[in-house]
Amino acid sequence: MTEELTLDSVRGYLDGLVPPRTEEMKAMEAHAKDLRFPIIGPAAGYFCYQIARMMGAKEIFELGSGFGYSTAWFARAVDENGGGKVHHAVWDEGLSAEARKHMQALGYSEIVDFHVGEAVEALREAQGPFDLIFNDIDKEGYLDSLPVIKQKLKSGGVLIVDNLLWSGKIFDPEDKSASTEGIRELTRAITTDEDWIAGIVPIRDGLLLAYKK
Ligand SMILES: C[S@@+](CC[C@H](N)C(=O)[O-])C[C@H]1O[C@@H](n2cnc3c(N)ncnc32)[C@H](O)[C@@H]1O
Repeated sequence: MTEELTLDSVRGYLDGLVPPRTEEMKAMEAHAKDLRFPIIGPAAGYFCYQIARMMGAKEIFELGSGFGYSTAWFARAVDENGGGKVHHAVWDEGLSAEARKHMQALGYSEIVDFHVGEAVEALREAQGPFDLIFNDIDKEGYLDSLPVIKQKLKSGGVLIVDNLLWSGKIFDPEDKSASTEGIRELTRAITTDEDWIAGIVPIRDGLLLAYKK
């Protein structure tokens, strides 16, 4: 099974269409590349920002936030939408601290709230409802996160989930790993639930884009 599902040329082309980023954002991209840390990258990040801007999102919850690269795109959208909150949730104290520094450097400290702990539990405890929820946690947790997300998302809200194509591993019938099965189960559950209008956008590793009716 191929590692990179989309052609390098397509990925490079889509990333190249993203307008220039700030030095801080570029440093975050370089840091992820050096560490091989899985961030959503420029094209998917810009797409998330675009959706959040188009819908005027002001209350966003992000599950599995890492050191804050995807958070920065959502915070930019909320800032430009007139202010609100982006919730950053990750279980690693060090990554949360890194994200706080980046948000400060980007001028988004007032916009972002930080939760250190299991992200679905943090969402369960959050007040909501949210305009937009972004999910990028460990893939074996995808199916169980869905009822909590559905409850906390407003009607008319949008869910974005990363890695729905999983480098093509979802197409390998031999791959029954918990992560691959988690992605298959989430995909099946949400595309057969009449409360959602859902589809996959094949940017980078595949983004689920779902509208809660
Ligand atoms: C794929 S990385 C995040 C990338 C981030 N969304 C970005 O694009 O910049 C996922 C991060 O969330 C953490 N994580 C995974 N599952 C989690 C969970 N259930 N609760 C909290 N953190 C989780 C991982 O340890 C990792 O740091």
